Amino acid sequence: MSLKEQINIEKLPKHVAIIMDGNGRWAKSKGQMRLLGHKAGVKALKNILRCAGTLGIKYLTVYAFSTENWNRPQDEVSGLMTILLNAIKSEIKEIHESDVKINVIGDTSKLPEKVQQKINDAIELTKTNKRITFNIALSYSSRCDIINAVKNIAEDYKNNKINQTEINETLFSKYLSTKEIPNPELLIRTSGELRISNFLLFEIAYSELYFTDIFWPDFSEENFYQAILDYQSRERRYGKTSEQIKK
Ligand code: IPE
Ligand code: IPE
Ligand code: MG
Repeated sequence: MSLKEQINIEKLPKHVAIIMDGNGRWAKSKGQMRLLGHKAGVKALKNILRCAGTLGIKYLTVYAFSTENWNRPQDEVSGLMTILLNAIKSEIKEIHESDVKINVIGDTSKLPEKVQQKINDAIELTKTNKRITFNIALSYSSRCDIINAVKNIAEDYKNNKINQTEINETLFSKYLSTKEIPNPELLIRTSGELRISNFLLFEIAYSELYFTDIFWPDFSEENFYQAILDYQSRERRYGKTSEQIKK
């Protein structure tokens, strides 16, 4: 049986999040420039988005650029922005035709004007699409997102829009940039790094984590199926005992 056939469609994660890491090392291993790795990374992403949509996953969140990534050498940052712009331009038609809804989280005001425009157009164009929500974290920092939420809660409290007793996990989630998206059941990180790098800190409290040594540009459909199968083999106990879960 192929890996795909082994997947239990009834138990698919609704939301998969991915830290797409290793583009630079992938390029280096081939004696190429880092930017070539980022280009190859876009191809891999296109493939995994299609694969996720076909399987029936409803939300795919990808970490494309962190606030910390602004500190990379200027030519890498500007190269990444160009790659991003070109990727939206060349892929938006097919994305829309595949019934994919685009959403972006992060401080997009820091992105070049042209990129912001393209993103807004893409969001507007795809806003009623239903197959899968493709959520892109751009200029994203989870700590910033959490602090913003706290500021907005304080503001609403001051203006008597909410009272203190109402502040709980559900309300807090509604102040995060991921408010319209359920928490990811599965978080994948490629490239062998075993860290979270400021991604979805609140949202992944009970996510299953999957790490693979494969560099992102090499991450294939088969690797994606493998991650889902691994997820499906886990027992999610949420603090309970195994015996309680099996009842
Ligand atoms: C991930 O690949 C893409 C971004 C962070 C933009 P990297 O560029 O981090 O690749 P490595 O980790 O240096 O190999
Ligand atoms: C995390 O990767 C951000 C993205 C994948 C966009 P990094 O390569 O920037 O992470 P660190 O700095 O090595 O943790
Ligand atoms: Mg990296």
